[in-house]
Amino acid sequence: MPCCRLSVPVALLLAALFAAGCSGTRDAAMPGTTPAAETPPATTPDMPDAPGRGARPARATDVHSYARPAEAIVHHVSLNLAADMAAHTLAGTATLTVEAHSATEVVLDTRDLTISRITDAEGAPLAFHLGAADPILGAPLTVTLPPADPLVGDTPGQRLVVVHYRTAPTAAAVQWLSPAQTASGQPFMFTQGEAILTRSWIPTQDSPGIRQTYDAEITAPAGLTAVMSAEADGQPALMPDGRRTFSFQMEHPVAPYLIALAIGDLEFRPLGERTGVWSEPTVVGPAASEFRDVEQMVTAAEGLYGPYRWGRYDLLVLPPSFPFGGMENPTLTFATPTILAGDRSLVSLVAHELAHSWSGNLVTNATWSDFWLNEGFTVYFENRIMEAVYGADYADMLRQLGRAELTDELATLPPKDQILHVDLQGRDPDDGFTSVPYEKGAAFLYTVESVVGRPRLDAFLRSYFDRNAFGSMTTAGLLAEMDATLWNTDPAARAAVRPEEWMYQPGLPDNVPPVASARLALADHAAAAFASGTAPAALATTGWATPQWIHFLNALPETLPADRLAALDQAFGLSASGNSEILFSWLRIAIRNRYEPAFPALESFLTRQGRRKYIKPLFADLAATDWGRPLAEQIYARARPTYHSVTSGSIDAILGVPPGQ
Ligand code: BES
Ligand code: ZN
Repeated sequence: MPCCRLSVPVALLLAALFAAGCSGTRDAAMPGTTPAAETPPATTPDMPDAPGRGARPARATDVHSYARPAEAIVHHVSLNLAADMAAHTLAGTATLTVEAHSATEVVLDTRDLTISRITDAEGAPLAFHLGAADPILGAPLTVTLPPADPLVGDTPGQRLVVVHYRTAPTAAAVQWLSPAQTASGQPFMFTQGEAILTRSWIPTQDSPGIRQTYDAEITAPAGLTAVMSAEADGQPALMPDGRRTFSFQMEHPVAPYLIALAIGDLEFRPLGERTGVWSEPTVVGPAASEFRDVEQMVTAAEGLYGPYRWGRYDLLVLPPSFPFGGMENPTLTFATPTILAGDRSLVSLVAHELAHSWSGNLVTNATWSDFWLNEGFTVYFENRIMEAVYGADYADMLRQLGRAELTDELATLPPKDQILHVDLQGRDPDDGFTSVPYEKGAAFLYTVESVVGRPRLDAFLRSYFDRNAFGSMTTAGLLAEMDATLWNTDPAARAAVRPEEWMYQPGLPDNVPPVASARLALADHAAAAFASGTAPAALATTGWATPQWIHFLNALPETLPADRLAALDQAFGLSASGNSEILFSWLRIAIRNRYEPAFPALESFLTRQGRRKYIKPLFADLAATDWGRPLAEQIYARARPTYHSVTSGSIDAILGVPPGQ
C-alpha cells in the first residue's frame, strides 16, 4: 500500500489547508476572476479515504464528471475485455468495487457505451438508468447498489457492481488502425484517456480526483500482444482458438485518465534494469537506440525529487497516428514515432513524460482547471532532468523556446484562457490545452526558484511529492502547501512571488525571471545575417543542435521571396528533414510564403502522421488563406480517416466539418 510520509505535523498542515481553502478563494477574488469550481476544503463531508491513504481535505468539485463521490465512490476497477479488431469493439465486463454507506445508488460516467446488463457479484440483475448524453461529458449511468458485501474490499460498505458492455467503434478514446496504417501490416488499437475520454471505454467515475486501483484481463487476437499502463501479471493464457488473454495489475490508485491499453504486433527491447521499449518489430531497434539515455533520466529524476514509485518505466512507440507527442501512462509512456529523429535530439519529450511519474501521476490535478499543476510542474521538472543529463546550456535553450512559445500564444488568447486556474465550466477540458498550463505554469516555478533559491524550492517539491503521493491537488491546495512549508517564515518571499496574480490573473506577471540562452543567440545572429542577404551556406551553423535550428527558423523574417526559401531548403535539406520539429517549423514558413516547392513535403507530413501539435497549426495556417483552404480540404479528405478522434475533432472545428461526420 502506498504510504504518506508527513514531513510536517499533520495538524499544522491541515489547519493551513483548511484556512487557505476559504481564504484562497477570497485572496483570489480580484474583479471578474473568482476561481471557478474550487470547493473550499472541509466545508462538505467526504468519504473516508481507504486505509493508508491518510486523511485528506474534501474533494474538489469536478464539473467534467457526473460522479457524486461523497455518496458512493469507485475504488477498484476489474476489466475483462476481448478486443475485436475487425468490429472495432472491446466487449466484456467492468467489475467495480464501490464504497457507499447510506447511498442506494452510484453514478458513473459513460460515453457511447452499449450496456447489456448490470449485475451484482452473484449475477443477480441490478436496476440502472442511462441518462441523456451530453456531447462533451457523455451520459451518466446510475446503478442501484446491491447490499454491502462484508467479503468485498478492505473497508466496510463495499460491494461489487458488474457492468456488461461493449464500446462503440467510434469510441473517442480508442483508435483502431487497419493493417495499412501500421509498420507491421497487422491491425493495431490503442486508447488515449486524458482528459475525459476513459469513459468511452470503461464505465467508471472518470474524474482525476477519484483514484482507482485496477486489474485487467484482455483477450487479444492470435499473434497480437496487449500492453497496459500496469504491471503484467505472468505470461498470457493461450485460448483454444489461438487468442491470448493478458493479465495486468495496477496496485497503486490512479486517476482513470491514466488507464491505457494498446494491442498490436509488439516487440520488447530492454534499455536498462527497469526500463525498456515496446513497439512494432521494425521500429524497436531505432527506438532503443534513440532512448538509450532513459535509464540515466530516471536516475536523474530520482536524484531531484525522490524515488520512482511505479516499478518499471517502459515506453511504447505507437504507430504514427498517435495524436500526442507523449502520454504519461503509468509504467508505460505512450509516444509518437515522430520523436525518433535518429540523433536523440527530441528526447526531452521522454524527460517530460517521465517527470509526470511525480507531477501528474503521483500528485494529480484534482480537476481539469488544475491541469497546470500537472503540466507546469512537469515542464519545470523536465527541464531539470534535461539539465542534469545534457547540461545547463542545453536546458537553457529549451527554456527559452518554451518562453517564446508562451509569449506568442498569450498574444492570441482571450484573457480568461491566460489564467493558470482556468474556468472550464460548460467547456471541453481540451479548450484548456494551450501553452498556458505548460509554460506559464513552469514560469511560475522559475519565479519561485528565483525568489527562494533552488535548494529551498527543491526541498519543497520533494516533500510535496512525498506528502501528497497518490493523492490529488488543487490550485488553492498548492498555495496552502506553499504557505505552510515554503515561505511560512519568509513573508517577503511570498510578497515577491505574488502567487495569486500568477494563479488567478491573465497575462505573464512582470516578476518572471528572463531567459537567455547563449546558443540560441547564435541562431539569432544567423537569422539576422540571412535576413540581411547572407547566403545560407555562409551562415555559421556548424555543430548546431536541434533547438538552434528551430529558433533560427522561427526568427526568420515573416515574408521571404521564393529564391531565398529555395536557397535555404537546398542548403539545409529542410523539406526532407527527418526531424519532425525542424520540418514542422519549415512547413509553417512555406505556408506563410506560399512556397509551393515544399507542398509535397507538407502533404506527405499531414498524411503520414497524426500528431495534433503539428497537424492543427498546419491546417489552421492553410485554412486562413483563400488559396490554402481548398488544398487543406483536399488533403484532409484523405487524411481524416487516418487520424485519432482527438486530432480529427480539432481539424473538423477548423475546417467546419459538422460533428458526427
Ligand atoms: N499529458 C500530456 C498529453 C495530454 C494532455 C493529453 C492533455 C490529453 C490532454 C503529455 O504529457 C504532454 O504534455 N505531451 C506533449 C509533449 C510534451 C513534451 C509537452 C505533447 O504531446 O505534445
Ligand atoms: Zn505533459
